[in-house]
Order: sequence, then structure tokens, then C-alpha cells
Amino acid sequence: MEIKTVRALWFSPTGNAERAAMEIARTIAERLGVPLRASGLNRPEARKREYAFAPSDFLVIACPVYAGKLPNKILPDLKAILRGNQTPAAAVVTFGNRAFDDALAELAAVLTGNGFCAISAAAVVGEHAFADKLGGGRPDAADMRELRAFAEKTADAVLTLPECPPPVRVPGDPAAPYYVPKGLDGAPAKFLKAKPKVDLSRCDGCGACARVCPMGAIDPQDVASVPGVCIKCQACVKSCARRARFFDDPAFLSHVAMLKENYAEPKENAFFYAFEP
Ligand SMILES: Cc1cc2nc3c(=O)[nH]c(=O)nc-3n(C[C@H](O)[C@H](O)[C@H](O)COP(=O)(O)O)c2cc1C
Repeated sequence: MEIKTVRALWFSPTGNAERAAMEIARTIAERLGVPLRASGLNRPEARKREYAFAPSDFLVIACPVYAGKLPNKILPDLKAILRGNQTPAAAVVTFGNRAFDDALAELAAVLTGNGFCAISAAAVVGEHAFADKLGGGRPDAADMRELRAFAEKTADAVLTLPECPPPVRVPGDPAAPYYVPKGLDGAPAKFLKAKPKVDLSRCDGCGACARVCPMGAIDPQDVASVPGVCIKCQACVKSCARRARFFDDPAFLSHVAMLKENYAEPKENAFFYAFEP
């Protein structure tokens, strides 16, 4: 395969998928001696245009795991905007130390369905957006070393493979249902309708939360108003320098407590290849 450009794309509200994608893409680009072009899909307008790729591009695409799959509000956008043309690719998901379940299989299937050949795939532990006790500080320096090794193997395969191999096989089923979040009592925790609140004694109305919201859900003129769909990504909470944004939905908080109680033990990253690494 002759690659002229490495492209990196990510949806990454709290930055883990972006960091993983960039580490991998930079390493592949350096190893192949070609330029890197990167773009984020966080903003709604970035998900309205098409991203078309040539056989001489290599795509690294990364997305977080939400409820064991790709974020359900983002999946239709990915399917609609990605256009491969026998384009080799690496699929990357980040997960918050519970499990990546079916998300990586779903991302690999999107790539295959949209004209890419996914030659490698990675599930990377990233600090959980809900609680820094889960995968706190990850991907850390050791994870980054693993990501670079994964990228080097991927780049070397690109240099030696004459054409795209059959797509990488990863565990999981793209058609599986979403993971049902549980509360501390083990019963399903229903917080689909929860939205972020604002502590007005701290908020200075800077509008940072509205600017980072990937759904454009927050009214920039009145940030206490969240008329749009909230995907619970926590970008608004983490972007607030005055720590004014928070979730107080009891079912959500019970789910977070359940995660902390059961999923604090560090998990490992997982790597998959369509070739002999
Ligand atoms: C709504 C939501 C659902 C999540 N579901 C899962 C999950 O099922 N399994 C898991 O291990 N982590 C889960 N996470 C944690 C994210 O996958 C993790 O924080 C990820 O690294 C975030 O990526 P980002 O920093 O690029 O936004 C979830 C996070 C959010 C916000």
C-alpha cells in the first residue's frame, strides 16, 4: 500500500479519544514519513460535512464507548459523513475502565460499511468521564507506549502489505443492545433525561460550557437553559473553570457510585490486527 497522508478523526468530548488518536496517527505518520492531517468531530457543524478519503490515505478514527457501544447520537453522523475508497484504517475506542463491550466491533463495522479496510483496532482505557476513580489519568505514559507499539506494527503492515487484507476481527457484536446502566441497588438506573445544572453563585456566564457541548444543547445566552439533547458526555462539567456545572440526578449519581464500587480495578488495553503483527 502506498500511503501519502495519515488522517486522524475523533469524537472526543473529554479528550481521551483525541489523545489516543493523535498518538497513534503521529507515530504512523512519522514511521511512514508522510504528513498528518487531523480534525475533531466534536462540534455539531463538524459532523455536517463529508470526509472523503483516497486509497493513499490512512485513517485513524477514535471515539469513546458509551453504554457499551458508540454514542448513539453520534453513530448516524459517522455513518453519514465518512467516505472511504479502499482506504486503510485503524479503529480506536476509549473506555472508562468498565468494558468496551460491542463498541469496537461497531466502529470496525462502520468503517467496513463505508469503504474503508480496517487493518487494526484498539480499545484503550481512558479516565471515565463520570468518575476519575475509574481509569484515573489514563491513557497514561505506559498506555502511550502501548499505543506507539500498536501504531508501529500498523505502519509496518502498511509498508509490506500489497493490498488491503480482510477486515480486522474484534470481539463484540455491532447488533447487540446497549449496556443498561445499573444503580447501587443493581436495578436499571434511568437517567436518559438528566441534564447538567448550573450553580449560579459560581457561574460567570463565560459560555465555555455552551461552546464545548457536542450537541449544541446549551443556550449560550443563558447557560442555565439546556433546551437540546444531552448525551451526558461531561464536556460542559470538565470545561468549567469555576466548577459551576454538575449533575444531581439521583439515578445518575447512583450509577456513578455503582461504577466506583465495582470497576476501580485497572483494566488493560486491547489490540487487534488483520495481519500477523
Ligand atoms: C454517557 C457515557 C457512557 C459511558 N459508557 C461507558 C461504558 O459502557 N463502558 C466504559 O468502560 N466506559 C464508559 N464511559 C466512559 C468513556 O468511555 C470514557 O470516559 C472515554 O474515555 C471518554 O472519551 P473522551 O474523553 O474522548 O470523551 C461512558 C462515558 C459516558 C459519558
